[in-house]
Amino acid sequence: MAHGTLPVSQEVMESVRDKIRRGLLPQWAFSDPGIYQAELEKIFYKTWQFLGHTSEIPKSGDFVTRWMVHDPVLLLRDTNGEIQAYLNSCSHRGAPVCIEDCGNRKTFTCPYHGWTYDSKGELIGIVAGNKVYGQEMDRSQWALRKIPRIASYHGMIFGCMDPDAPSLEEFLGDLKWYLDILLARTDGGMEVRGVPHRWIIPTNWKISSDNFGGDPYHTAMTHRSAVELGIAPQDPLFASYGHQVVLDHGHGVNMITAAPGLKMPPYQGLPESLWPMFERNLTAEQRAVFKNLVVSVGTCFPNLSWVSPMHGTGGPGSPLTTFVNFRVWRPLAADKIEVWSWVMVDKDAPEEFKQESYLSYIGSFGPAGTLEQDDCEIWTRVVEHSRGYMAQNKDISYNNVLNYLMGLDRVQPVTDWPGPGVAYPTCYLDAISRSFYERWAEMLLA
Ligand code: FES
Ligand SMILES: [Fe+2]
Repeated sequence: MAHGTLPVSQEVMESVRDKIRRGLLPQWAFSDPGIYQAELEKIFYKTWQFLGHTSEIPKSGDFVTRWMVHDPVLLLRDTNGEIQAYLNSCSHRGAPVCIEDCGNRKTFTCPYHGWTYDSKGELIGIVAGNKVYGQEMDRSQWALRKIPRIASYHGMIFGCMDPDAPSLEEFLGDLKWYLDILLARTDGGMEVRGVPHRWIIPTNWKISSDNFGGDPYHTAMTHRSAVELGIAPQDPLFASYGHQVVLDHGHGVNMITAAPGLKMPPYQGLPESLWPMFERNLTAEQRAVFKNLVVSVGTCFPNLSWVSPMHGTGGPGSPLTTFVNFRVWRPLAADKIEVWSWVMVDKDAPEEFKQESYLSYIGSFGPAGTLEQDDCEIWTRVVEHSRGYMAQNKDISYNNVLNYLMGLDRVQPVTDWPGPGVAYPTCYLDAISRSFYERWAEMLLA
């Protein structure tokens, strides 16, 4: 049976997809282990997964170790300066050939039996070589295994397991227009500041993807302490101003602006020395949107999100500084994710600004960030409270569906949005979430 890996019949899954279009999602989507297994096969092995940024491996021999969900990846720049991605698992007995997070090496010697590979992945050394294997073993047959596909977009390196998947550019689709505002606005592009931060949250990957992708509505309550401290505005609609944009392939972005009448510096307060570069690198339409932007937050389906807000660097009243933060919600189980979080800065920005930008991130997001911890705590609770008999019941009814109705049939798209996608005149809307879960259901049904 084609859908044998799903824990529900095709009929039930089709009704789930239809219900999502009408704003209803069964709660077992967050906790069913069978759904998780099906997601690995039908979603994560079919889509492009973010691995890292070219600025993390600028020189020949530079490497980082990463994961594509459960596949270990050795990402490096070879002796020709080309980026390569290998399975970080020895062709002999499967031990990782590299256990460091990052570094620079000409060769990688496996700690188990000592087989050695070069940056082209070739097996160049075997302990006791011909004495134990004789002449008949052809070393060229035992190179490191390559990740089937890698590609990059403005420095963002992705891998994909599916040889038949659409190209990275096709997969990103209209999202590129919005990513360019973050990644391609300055002449030198972006660079990663520091190393990616990692932490584990006992939650489901869809909850975090959906939160960043389509849920600015949570900010007034989840991040209530920031409001009470005077870091975030009192107005409960503060994260609703601007546009929510539904994009192809399940992607979505919220381009949040200031409340009407509230004056904010243009271009998220980025240094004026960068402004002429925006003229050169962005279109007039992109600049029109960027100029009034306060927060860009969204998700590249399935599990790469970003947030680029303006936040203080030193508590209440400190100047607001913007940063760019990308994160992968790496699924570990139905109820566990590992977050990988990168801070990126414009290479061309002054050093003082880069440091302020990093501090702004550290205080708000990342493992020590106050806002981050608000989110983690709630996402953990959602999964904890989605495991019971009622939530797991596959007869979809009032007993186990969640509400994604905000704006359904009520809020209409605008006709004068200068960018691609379907743009709505508010960010308090479940349009992106509905589209995200519809894509999710379609991929599970495929
Ligand atoms: S597992 Fe790597 S050398 Fe044996
Ligand atoms: Fe949040």
